Amino acid sequence: MGCALSSPDVTSDPAVAEGRPCLALEGGLGSSKEARCLGNGGTLEPLQLSEAQKTLVRESWEVLHKDIVRVGIIVFIRLFETHPECKDAFFLFRDIEDLQQLQMNKELQAHGLRVMSFVEKSVARLDEEGKLELLAFELGRSHCRYRAPPKYYEYVGAQFIQAVRPILKEEWTPQVEKAWESLFRYLVATMRRGFYEEEKATEARQSLSAQKAGAASTPSKA
Ligand code: HEM
Repeated sequence: MGCALSSPDVTSDPAVAEGRPCLALEGGLGSSKEARCLGNGGTLEPLQLSEAQKTLVRESWEVLHKDIVRVGIIVFIRLFETHPECKDAFFLFRDIEDLQQLQMNKELQAHGLRVMSFVEKSVARLDEEGKLELLAFELGRSHCRYRAPPKYYEYVGAQFIQAVRPILKEEWTPQVEKAWESLFRYLVATMRRGFYEEEKATEARQSLSAQKAGAASTPSKA
């Protein structure tokens, strides 16, 4: 399998099994407002944030970004509490069992910060959907190489919301929450698509090298 992932999320993907094409690549990223192939049999709608929701996201980020180191740590510690298997993707700290100790780990802190920087970049690109899509799509592709399966991405969004709610206190309204949920839904769906595209590409490369190796070892008929 492409990513050497044994996740049922991946193996049961009908689009991967059928080798169905993804319109995102055929039409160019960010080039179409139509629903696109998700690579898992579903469809992806475009970024569905109204102008008012974009403003809510930007305004709340103004406050939140001061706490990104702490939020990044909380998000991943909670992810590992609820889904300990996610830790296996992080070879630099996967053997640390104690979550208190893990909280102090420099690699975990650095990863949390990378994720939050990605959120920052996304907020900055809310009016440039093509760029935002490419960013999230490429991130999904790199996560295939990290062997971090899509089924966990949505938990990151949920944990992010849990972690930032107390920071914004009464400024965190149901409208703000809905706006952030929409943004994460979009990012996760686009990352998922990137993941499956990378998986298909890896499978194609592997099958080509297997064919070449087979051809090289078959004695030619004189
Ligand atoms: C919405 C969800 C997520 C976002 C936005 C995100 C973002 C990022 C970013 C920005 C990087 C830096 C490297 C790069 O740009 O390619 C990264 C690396 C990585 N991510 Fe994620 N990630 C998410 C979910 C996950 C999950 C759920 C896992 C594990 C199951 C994971 C595992 C990894 C690993 C192993 C690396 C490489 C090591 C590292 O950079 O520390 N990620 N991620």
